[in-house]
Amino acid sequence: MGDSSYLLGTHTEELERLRFQHELWLPAARAAWQRAGLTAGMRVLDVGAGPAFAAMDLSRIVGSTGRVLGLELSEAYVAAGQAMARRAQLPQLELRQHNLLRDPWPTEGFDLAWCRWVAMFLPDLEPLLTGLEQSLRLGGQLVLHEYVHWDSFGLHPNGRAIARFGQACQRSFRAAGGDPDPNRRLPALLTARGWRIDALLPLPVAGGSHSMAGQWMQRFVEVYGARLQELGLWSSSDAGEACAEIASATADPGCFWVGPTLLEVRATRLAS
Ligand SMILES: C[S@@+](CC[C@H](N)C(=O)[O-])C[C@H]1O[C@@H](n2cnc3c(N)ncnc32)[C@H](O)[C@@H]1O
Repeated sequence: MGDSSYLLGTHTEELERLRFQHELWLPAARAAWQRAGLTAGMRVLDVGAGPAFAAMDLSRIVGSTGRVLGLELSEAYVAAGQAMARRAQLPQLELRQHNLLRDPWPTEGFDLAWCRWVAMFLPDLEPLLTGLEQSLRLGGQLVLHEYVHWDSFGLHPNGRAIARFGQACQRSFRAAGGDPDPNRRLPALLTARGWRIDALLPLPVAGGSHSMAGQWMQRFVEVYGARLQELGLWSSSDAGEACAEIASATADPGCFWVGPTLLEVRATRLAS
């Protein structure tokens, strides 16, 4: 399957956006891993690992006696992750090209599975859950960082074009078969399969234009705005309006961005 099947693309700009996004969200990820008891020697599965930014950090925590396997659709991201792992001398990290919806999942009895910003792109969540059941040992934990409330995305108080941009993003995710807010459904799907939900923790984000959070959202409007125009869901005049709102917010310390709200779901596999 080609890289183009990932809606946001795998060009360098998107890879760099993912790197910045990972830096912004790393403290939240680390806190989640700590709550899940991640420690040296553990075996971790990174589901939809992207270019392996989180997988690299996970590998440093599990150390040389542990193992991290990243499953990722994009060949370009797998190659980028493998090169980073070699440079950083992390032999405990393996990246594997894998389509979560079609390919057989590894059956190694992983202790922990980490899945961030991936379920939202899947047209069907059942293969993900079946795969996780095949890959995790009984008592193994799943940590999901997926969106629960995309509608919270906005630039305040005057971001009317940015509000339309948020709606256009959600339409594009749905048009590609995904769901902007998969963590509204995942806890119920997990409990129906006999998993135990250990924690539900909303992770909101907000900040002025010069904050890291603000920079992250501005960058997303630039990078994904171009894609939305290709998809016919955003026009050049929309883009111009959004650009003007961003410029005026940058000059006004009273303006601020609010991100789409993530939900941390931590669950334990109890039965096969
Ligand atoms: C927004 S990125 C997130 C990457 C990484 N999880 C992170 O937190 O930085 C979404 C990733 O999901 C991957 N993906 C989407 N659909 C997939 C599928 N069917 N199988 C495997 N990976 C998939 C994409 O290729 C992309 O790398």
